[in-house]
Amino acid sequence: MAVILKTDAEIDQMKKSCQLAAQLLDYIEPYIVPGVTTGELNTLCHDYTLAHDAISAPLNYKGFPKSICTSVNEVICHGIPTSKQKLKEGDIINIDVTPILLGYHGDTSKTFFVGDRISPVAKKLVQCAKDSLSKGIDAVKVNNRLGDIGAAIQEYAESQGFSVVREFVGHGIGKVFHEEPQIPHFGTRGRGLRLEPGMTFTIEPMINEGHWKAKILKDGWTAVTVDNKLSAQFEHTIAIRENGDVEILTLP
Ligand code: MF3
Ligand code: CO
Ligand code: CO
Repeated sequence: MAVILKTDAEIDQMKKSCQLAAQLLDYIEPYIVPGVTTGELNTLCHDYTLAHDAISAPLNYKGFPKSICTSVNEVICHGIPTSKQKLKEGDIINIDVTPILLGYHGDTSKTFFVGDRISPVAKKLVQCAKDSLSKGIDAVKVNNRLGDIGAAIQEYAESQGFSVVREFVGHGIGKVFHEEPQIPHFGTRGRGLRLEPGMTFTIEPMINEGHWKAKILKDGWTAVTVDNKLSAQFEHTIAIRENGDVEILTLP
């Protein structure tokens, strides 16, 4: 399996799906309030996606049962929405959406606050995850290497006193949800695959308050922190254009 490079015309198509993904996060934001269930958020996102001529990539992907991932507090990623899980004041929740439009995937996620009584450490962690993604994106340049992206993220997150999840990484994306290359959010500058025009991939650092290690719950999907401390994540889909310009396709 090799990296599938895309032409500018293909990236233009893919951008439509990525823009829908960004709109979907904007659409769902006002519904994220104390008392709403993650199942209700899933249904709203699923219906919005269909109403925009797209489908939800997560639904039935390798057996995943819902249309979005909802990862609350100590959940690192791949939380499964349910009608029983009510959000509470002070929670943090990552919503990860991936519509498929015109055959292309658009993958983005954000961590939201529930209500306004958010603990100082939760605020600091969420800001750190957001800034870690920005540091990673700043390292995307033709002729840089994957290790430059990972190192930028890891150095920043660890300088804030937090840790970077190792078991889940960003990924190439296009007509296929998860394609080569893998994009680790940790690493060593100057190492790894060289970046080149035509690459399309996600960067999606998961930053933990405590230990970086994850464990998977019995449902086979939900990844949680081993110490039950908080985890936060932000994700964008990025493209490197034929002329070397770097574009955040999922920027709202
Ligand atoms: N959207 C997730 C990612 O960023 C993948 C979710 S896969 C699922 O790669 F099966 F859990 F939906
Ligand atoms: Co995602
Ligand atoms: Co992704």
